[in-house]
Amino acid sequence: MSGELFSEERSAEVVAASFAGTPNPRLTQVMTSLVQHLHAFVKDVELTEEEWGVAIDFLTRTGQMSNEVRQEFILLSDVLGVSMLVETINHRTGGQSTESTVLGPFHMVESPPRALGDDIALDGKGDRCLVSGQVTGPDGEPLAGASVDVWQANEDGFYDVQQPGVQPESNLRGLFTTDDEGRFWFRSIVPKYYPIPDDGPVGELLAATARHPNRPAHLHFIVTAPGYRPVTTHVFVEDSPYLDSDAVFGVKDSLVRAVPEVDDPARAAEVGLPNPFRTLTFDLTLLRGGQTAS
Ligand code: BEZ
Ligand code: FE
Repeated sequence: MSGELFSEERSAEVVAASFAGTPNPRLTQVMTSLVQHLHAFVKDVELTEEEWGVAIDFLTRTGQMSNEVRQEFILLSDVLGVSMLVETINHRTGGQSTESTVLGPFHMVESPPRALGDDIALDGKGDRCLVSGQVTGPDGEPLAGASVDVWQANEDGFYDVQQPGVQPESNLRGLFTTDDEGRFWFRSIVPKYYPIPDDGPVGELLAATARHPNRPAHLHFIVTAPGYRPVTTHVFVEDSPYLDSDAVFGVKDSLVRAVPEVDDPARAAEVGLPNPFRTLTFDLTLLRGGQTAS
């Protein structure tokens, strides 16, 4: 008989050896490491047959809950911190560019192109806010013509795609193009904290582990410019609840901003907002294409 038979002591090595004929070396590396860590985990906690059954049932229901508008597996990856870890490993900045954070499941429709200064708050709810910023490259060069794609939840804590027929289509979404100085600005509302969907298996997991489902108030961004590396990120509101306990671990200190009030009737009239209004300023820096963080 060739090869070694399965035993408790050498389980991982025996299974890893079964991948010896894998043509793709990266797949061999990933599967070998996965098996080593999985077997070590099972041995560490001495998993019972009943617990293994619960896990299989949980993963089965996680798959069954997923469809084109609800991705329960991504949510599971999010609450386990895996999405943030993959994101962070793949987008190291070395302090030279804006830090990234999770994409999240609600960028499922294309944002409508809008003109600078447009109002993206179509449902008339929330504290009015002027959002603005400048997109630059690593040497401070302004990036004219950059795309700034933004989306946020409404005052009630839901994205437009979660409430079709309730919120206007494309509420609180927009695709802007920066001006000659790399600047963008638009009218919106102060972002509000909200719970991630918790009516499925992931919600059960959060409840069983006494964790809340909330994310601190944030506005999503995807910024792209030809010749530069795209950034997928959020800006977080400084005084929001849950900044130190985000359900998906997405907060980074460098992404938190104050949202001060401006009481200036002339300025309010100029930007088309009622006085007083709040302001959220978020400048973004992109690395050059092919540039890696040093
Ligand atoms: C979001 O910020 O839209 C989000 C991120 C992860 C899970 C759920 C929602
Ligand atoms: Fe979000």
